[in-house]
Amino acid sequence: MCLGAYKVNKERTAGFPAWKWGLLAGVIGLAAVGAAAGIRDRQNEGGRAMVMGDASEEGAPSGNMAGENEDTETKKIALTFDDGPHPRYTEELLDGLAKRKVKATFFLLGQNIEGREEIIKRMAQEGHLIGNHTYYHVDITQLPQKEACREILDTSEKITAITGQPVEYIRPPFGNWDKELEYEVMMLPIFWSVDTLDWTTKNEDQIVQKVVTKIEENDIILMHDSYDSTVKAALRIIDLLQAEGYEFVTADELILE
Ligand code: NI
Repeated sequence: MCLGAYKVNKERTAGFPAWKWGLLAGVIGLAAVGAAAGIRDRQNEGGRAMVMGDASEEGAPSGNMAGENEDTETKKIALTFDDGPHPRYTEELLDGLAKRKVKATFFLLGQNIEGREEIIKRMAQEGHLIGNHTYYHVDITQLPQKEACREILDTSEKITAITGQPVEYIRPPFGNWDKELEYEVMMLPIFWSVDTLDWTTKNEDQIVQKVVTKIEENDIILMHDSYDSTVKAALRIIDLLQAEGYEFVTADELILE
C-alpha cells in the first residue's frame, strides 16, 4: 500500500533517476548498521562510547600509515535540527549558517510547512539537507502501517513540491523506526549520536558545553531549531569547533561513508 502511494509521489517528483534508486537500495544494508548503532546508543545513556568505539576502529586518524591517501585531517560532524521550520528561529539560524559557510540538516514536520515555504526553499538553495520528521510528530511504530506511510509520504510530498527534490532521509520521532518501512517508503533513517536535550534545558551555555566537551568526529548532533537558545548555542558551537578543525557536513555524508 505504501509503495502505491509512493509511486504517486515519485511521479509527481518528475522522476527520481534510476541509478539513484539503485544507490539507495545498495546503501540500505549499510544504513541498517548505522540505524542499529543509533538505536544502541539511545538505549544506553553514555552508549555513544559504543558508537564511537565502532567508528574509531575504522575512522581513527592513521597518521603513521604511509600511503594512506584519505583526508584524515578533516574531522567531520553534522548538526541536525528537528521539528521545524520555525517562522522566526529557523531564519536566524540560516543567516548564521550562511555567514559561517556551514551546511546542516533539517528534519521537517509536515504540519509546520504551510506558510513557511520560503524558508524551506532557502534551505534547499543554500545546500542544506532536508529530511522528513513525519507530519504530526508521531511514533511511527505505534501506528498501523497505512497511517505510518501517510505520515511520511504526505510530508515528503509537501517538501518536494517546494524544493523539486525527492526526500531521501527520515528522522523518526523518538528514534522509533520500523525497518519494514524502509523498503515501503524507500527512505533511510538518520539517528543521532549526541542528544543536546536543548528542548528541555533551553539553556544556551549548557547546550554549548554538552556538545563541545563530548564531541568526536563523525558525531551527529540532535537539536531543535524552535528555540532562541538553540540557535545561539548552535552558532557558538560552530565557531568553537571550526577553530578546532571540525568540518560541518550534512548528515547523509556521515551515514553513507
Ligand atoms: Ni522531534
